[in-house]
Amino acid sequence: MDFTLHRSTLTPGFSHRLVKLVFSIALGVVVMSAQATTQGTQMIHQYPSASLSHYGYLSDKTAVSKVTLTNKHGIEVDVISYGGIITRITTPDNKGQMANIVLGMDDIHAYESANPYYGAIIGRYGNRIANGRFTLEGVDYQLGQNDGDNHLHGGHNGFDRKNWAMVPFTTENSSGVTLSYVSPDGDQGYPGTLDMQVVYTLTNNNTLDMKFSATTDKTTIVNMTQHSYFNLAGGGSILDHQLRIPSDSITPVDSGLIPTGELMPVAGTPFDFRDFKTIGQDINTNHEQMARGKGYDHNFVIKADIDDELIEAATVVEPTSGRQLTVLTDEPAVQFYSGNFMDGSTSRDGKPFDFRTGFCLEPQHYPDSPNQPAFPSTTLSPGEQYQIRIVYAFDVVK
Ligand code: GLA
Repeated sequence: MDFTLHRSTLTPGFSHRLVKLVFSIALGVVVMSAQATTQGTQMIHQYPSASLSHYGYLSDKTAVSKVTLTNKHGIEVDVISYGGIITRITTPDNKGQMANIVLGMDDIHAYESANPYYGAIIGRYGNRIANGRFTLEGVDYQLGQNDGDNHLHGGHNGFDRKNWAMVPFTTENSSGVTLSYVSPDGDQGYPGTLDMQVVYTLTNNNTLDMKFSATTDKTTIVNMTQHSYFNLAGGGSILDHQLRIPSDSITPVDSGLIPTGELMPVAGTPFDFRDFKTIGQDINTNHEQMARGKGYDHNFVIKADIDDELIEAATVVEPTSGRQLTVLTDEPAVQFYSGNFMDGSTSRDGKPFDFRTGFCLEPQHYPDSPNQPAFPSTTLSPGEQYQIRIVYAFDVVK
């Protein structure tokens, strides 16, 4: 297979483009009539755009809004205020056909009642903390136990279930939305008031650039991530997607998916994604770690140093559509989850999401770091700025 990048080949589908053309002509007539008379038929520069609309109401009647970002190549991203959830990312395949490549639900009611973190901002602590317990500066903390005895993805009422404030913006080459939320001291058992901003920016270079930042007024722990589930074919099994993760080792886990504290080299194991292979190639291999995760649900180490250098966490290519996704980050690890808990109980447009029809690549610090002194620290102190970056880069290969 040819994995050469073919940049600038992204063109939206015809009907889509026609609607936009008609719209832009109409807008041009209304808004730019003076300019039109002097510049003939020249069209106004309509994209990038960011438009805000009403999405629905939570059961407590709180209004949830939606922002739609569009870039000049016709890529569209929908974000809702509830959970900062990315509900839709529409990108072209190598023939220009648009499809939504992320999993999501029909409406706010579905998200509120049973969302397995589709598209959501995760925090305060992405991934698991053993028994929901940790000790910081001599104080013991007990968090909610929402994954057996363990704490997962911020607990019962994590950031994926908060209604964030959203402010859309546009620049010459991008459009975006700034989400903010203040998590009070004691929220889900965590110490400190956490004041957060998440900025999603869709660029004309076909990237969705996401910056997460936070400050605290008491020493606390933070490990945020983005939990989009992808299917680059727009549906069906993900097992034929080609995946590369430039990682030499994973943090192996016990039966509750808590790291044992060791690093396990990937060489000679099903976890070796250093060269492209399909997600399905080794997924049924008899390996203790594979049995514990019920497939891939592991933290791959991608950098040794904690710094702000943006590096490749993973690249995925779907051979039929040619869609390619590269996930970049400054985080030291990425959780690769192959949709092993998916069972058809959630759906969109009447189509159930069956076993392994979506995968996640969640850049983050290692799971259970607060209880693992040898792991990179997830502690945030007053006066420090938590700042991480995750970039989804969209492309097509022939
Ligand atoms: C993460 C976890 C998985 C699972 C999913 C959501 O990726 O590592 O074990 O909980 O979220 O279902």
